[in-house]
Amino acid sequence: MRILLLPGDGVGPEVTRAAREILEAAVTGTWAGAAGDVDVTFSEADFGGAAVDRVGSPLPRATLEACREADAILLGAVGGPAWSDVPSEQRPESGLLALRSALGLFANLRPVRVRARGVDFVIVRELTGGIYFGQPRSYESGRAYNTMVYERDEIVRIADVAFREAARRRRHVTSVDKANVLEVSRLWRGVVTAEHGGRPDVALAHMYVDNAAMQIVLRPQQFDVILTGNLFGDILSDVGAALAGSLGVLPSASVGAPGSTPLFEPVHGSAPDLADTGTVNPVGAILSGAMLLRHSGFTAAADRMETAVLAVLERGPKTPDLGGSARTGDVTNAILKHMKTAETIS
Ligand code: NAD
Ligand code: IPM
Ligand code: MN
Repeated sequence: MRILLLPGDGVGPEVTRAAREILEAAVTGTWAGAAGDVDVTFSEADFGGAAVDRVGSPLPRATLEACREADAILLGAVGGPAWSDVPSEQRPESGLLALRSALGLFANLRPVRVRARGVDFVIVRELTGGIYFGQPRSYESGRAYNTMVYERDEIVRIADVAFREAARRRRHVTSVDKANVLEVSRLWRGVVTAEHGGRPDVALAHMYVDNAAMQIVLRPQQFDVILTGNLFGDILSDVGAALAGSLGVLPSASVGAPGSTPLFEPVHGSAPDLADTGTVNPVGAILSGAMLLRHSGFTAAADRMETAVLAVLERGPKTPDLGGSARTGDVTNAILKHMKTAETIS
């Protein structure tokens, strides 16, 4: 298995390094069910602001080729104040959007789990369409606009991902839109409802996005699968992070049609305020690594990683975002230790 690392900017390299350490331990482990016989190779490529500085583009051609050739990608984060005033096609964030689009990664899965409170839902976010990519778009002096557009087929395929996800979980999909105001949401709601016709095993509810933001804060236990578009999914996943106590602990997986290289990345950004302090929370990146293993069929190794992370989240050590005073390396080492010594998988 060839894993390509795209460390990126800010805290990206620090969390990617931590995730790699844990992944290496997971795939070379000797406990029953470990992926010990897998031949895993890691390589790295320039991406984001780091790539802008080195070669003048956030997604160099060689990096995109390496992504296509890899079996899975693990990404840190991109962006930061150093690149906030460059032309928009040279922004690190544009490189990330271009990568998702070029690889056809239309589905972004963002699980939110807070065991103590009975919270366990996954946001299924459409990732290659909507207002992020809609044309026309323009910035002129004194006037700017974007276009929120969805084609029927784009809604069908992401709804299908959500229904399949729900069938493996608690069989409930909440589709989130703004159909009381937006035409694009009325199409969304109609297509999701029609697709649901073929899925009697799964329940479907619709909710407006403003109410959804409140419900996630107030009564998050009601959600199983939240299906939504690109922009709403971006916003609601950070709301979900607040339930977990920190943006630093949320992982994600971006997947496309069969044959496209899947990409795994924490939900958080480059956290410029934490870069090089040694105190960034590595858990979001590490759990993204666990999602990578699970997606690749290494269930036992993924379970082992997740169990170790949960134990450390409960008992500590904790980084400052979760109220502790531990450093990134303390958390990573505690997770490593738990993985190596745990007798059973709980
Ligand atoms: P951010 O996610 O970087 O940070 C938001 C807040 O969460 C900050 O207070 C930060 O310290 C905290 N935080 C984030 N990750 C953390 C972690 N692992 N451990 C502890 N605390 C953590 O979002 P922002 O400040 O709005 O954006 C900063 C830059 O990152 C921008 O350039 C933005 O475009 C970019 N960004 C990139 C990605 C990505 O690469 N996927 C995602 C979001 C934002
Ligand atoms: C995310 C980020 C990205 C997004 C940005 C950096 C382009 O916020 O992955 O949540 O909006 O998709
Ligand atoms: Mn975001």
